[in-house]
Amino acid sequence: MELLNWDGTFSFFLIIAIHYIIHTVNGDDSLKVSLISTGSALPEKVLDNTEISTMVETSDQWITERTGIKTRRVVTTETTISLAVEASKRAMEKAGVAPSDIDLVICATITPDTVVPSAACRIRHELGIDKGAAFDVNAACSGFIYSVSLARSLMLTEDYNTALIVGSEVLSRIVDWTDRTTCILFGDGAGAAILKKDSDLGGEILATHIESFNDIQNALVCDNYPIETPFYTGYKPEKTKLVMDGQQVFRFAVNAIVDSITAVLKKAGKTADEIKYIVPHQANVRIIDSAANKLKIDKSRFFVNLHKVGNTSSASIPIALDELFDSEKPQKGDLVLIVGFGGGLTAGSALIRY
Ligand code: UT7
Repeated sequence: MELLNWDGTFSFFLIIAIHYIIHTVNGDDSLKVSLISTGSALPEKVLDNTEISTMVETSDQWITERTGIKTRRVVTTETTISLAVEASKRAMEKAGVAPSDIDLVICATITPDTVVPSAACRIRHELGIDKGAAFDVNAACSGFIYSVSLARSLMLTEDYNTALIVGSEVLSRIVDWTDRTTCILFGDGAGAAILKKDSDLGGEILATHIESFNDIQNALVCDNYPIETPFYTGYKPEKTKLVMDGQQVFRFAVNAIVDSITAVLKKAGKTADEIKYIVPHQANVRIIDSAANKLKIDKSRFFVNLHKVGNTSSASIPIALDELFDSEKPQKGDLVLIVGFGGGLTAGSALIRY
């Protein structure tokens, strides 16, 4: 039997040709990755500036004026994994995604509970996810954005459809609680997001931009744990707690935010005026204000929650995003820009359209 006569063959190729023309003119909209939900989890213990003032020589006034931070959360019994699992469950619930849907798990952290297995593998196990890949990313405070960028690339080029991205930190375990220049800044917590391929729910990630810079002057360092082997006992880590040159990091941070925002907007062909919200890494309100001034973007468009949670490194952006979306649902077409910087040195940004 003749499967396709001349007319049938002609019609078939005509449909293919029309489809090709539409996609060439409009861009191929079938290949997209969207950030469809967020979730977060914080430890129970609230540590306010007054309590820190009993531990090191500082004051609520100094911390508030120089950083904007009033309180942060610190773990007692919680862990990187327990916080991550809690945040992930909330993000999965909001997205209506089951463990069996997820085929990629990335955890951004500089404070994993174990070296092996990775935090991502343990989160996956606890959530009952049993397919696809899981691994950790260490890009310090830019870790969540690096993970989003990586997941998006993997989903566009490989066979992954639904990703769970988590930033989870217990920085209180690596902070030097006798050093007033660092211990006032950091907090613990976790934030998660579900990324989906070809979703119509909004949240398309239009572009990402990630970069690293050599930290020549060791502006932000936490050395490895002490290592002694039968073959070498000479490795003596000097900085087993977090050590930071605050002013250097401050200068880097302001430029990194400005450059990263500029770069991702250029990639997406958008302008700063079109952005509805900017969700920056929550490190210091003075860093955010300086970057806003340099970019000539009104400060009110930068979402800030650091006064409540401090700097939670790779968890800071997803925690802030989650708070923003809980209080204000993005409208169709809204552009949301996330931007971060951190140890490494690293920086990154992503532009999302709802
Ligand atoms: O995720 C990335 C992580 N890191 C950051 O984002 C940190 C970026 N840097 C910063 O946020 C700021 O540099 C800090 C908040 C860390 C410090 O603020 P600063 O305005 O740069 O202060 P400073 O280092 O210039 O210090 C000013 C003064 C010094 O005293 P003298 O030398 O002027 O007498 C410090 O010893 O403030 C003193 N100081 C403090 N005083 C009370 C430093 N820390 C404290 C403190 N309480 N906690």
